[in-house]
Amino acid sequence: MTKITFVGCGNMAQAMISGLRASKQKFHIYVIEKNEELKNKIQKELKVEIVDNLDHHQTDIVILSVKPKDVAEACKNLNVNGSIVISIAAGIGLDTIKKHLKGYQKLVRVMPNLNAFEGKSINTIYFDDLIESEDRKIIGSIFSSIGQNIIFDDELMIDQSTAISGSGPAYVFYLMQSFIEAATKIGLPLEDAKKLVYETFAGACATAKKNLDDLDKLIENVSSKGGTTEAAIKSFDERNIKEIFNQAVKNAYNRALEINQENKN
Ligand SMILES: NC(=O)c1ccc[n+]([C@@H]2O[C@H](COP(=O)([O-])OP(=O)(O)OC[C@H]3O[C@@H](n4cnc5c(N)ncnc54)[C@H](OP(=O)(O)O)[C@@H]3O)[C@@H](O)[C@H]2O)c1
Repeated sequence: MTKITFVGCGNMAQAMISGLRASKQKFHIYVIEKNEELKNKIQKELKVEIVDNLDHHQTDIVILSVKPKDVAEACKNLNVNGSIVISIAAGIGLDTIKKHLKGYQKLVRVMPNLNAFEGKSINTIYFDDLIESEDRKIIGSIFSSIGQNIIFDDELMIDQSTAISGSGPAYVFYLMQSFIEAATKIGLPLEDAKKLVYETFAGACATAKKNLDDLDKLIENVSSKGGTTEAAIKSFDERNIKEIFNQAVKNAYNRALEINQENKN
């Protein structure tokens, strides 16, 4: 059974552990967490083994799942002892991890997302050259159990995907929240607004999945000339919503690059 140790067990590690627990594959999961209150909660709810460090147990995989600002501290005195170290920290490059782990090289970067809770994460993966093909398969299967994987051979694409799929669930929640607020402002009761918005997003995702090459056509199919949808889309275009999205994604990507610079030392 593959042994995985999470260093830091906040939102993302908990989402991953829930996804791993629900998968057919079985894993032995250890957690190193410094927040005492959280330790008790996750031990009870996620049935993991809480440990203080890597000194007294053998682990195949270490998943660094602390905030980017805490990576340096978490790497200090981490006795990795031949395990593969996977970082999911936004922005932190393998060059930076290597430095904090005193030149250690069995490293992988993965950008999952919060949909791991539902086994629906989309994970982008970049392997350091030293990771052998057998280990790549094991890592692929771990992340497959919380969603789907895309392997990149350019590390920069992890930062680019961070700005899309890593942060993306929050963009979608933000849009949903905006639509729910708008729905209540034109008079719909809150509970009805929530259901209408949720089902519209879920249904539109299912429809779009089969037609991703022709989203224009899908928009056209809903928008009859002089109709309600056209009135709404016109309002998006007048305010140049696409440019606002461009800028938001660019800001997230640039921030990922900045985070690496800020955490090199
Ligand atoms: N959340 C997401 O949707 C998402 C998506 C993709 C990637 N990520 C990445 O995943 C990482 C974790 O994000 P998160 O949202 O899960 O953060 P989080 O909720 O703050 O969880 C991090 C946990 O690690 C603990 N911690 C800090 N330093 C530690 C140390 N040295 N040893 C052990 N535990 C330590 C923190 O305790 P304290 O709170 O007491 O400091 C906290 O409980 C980040 O690097 C983020 O970029 C997150």
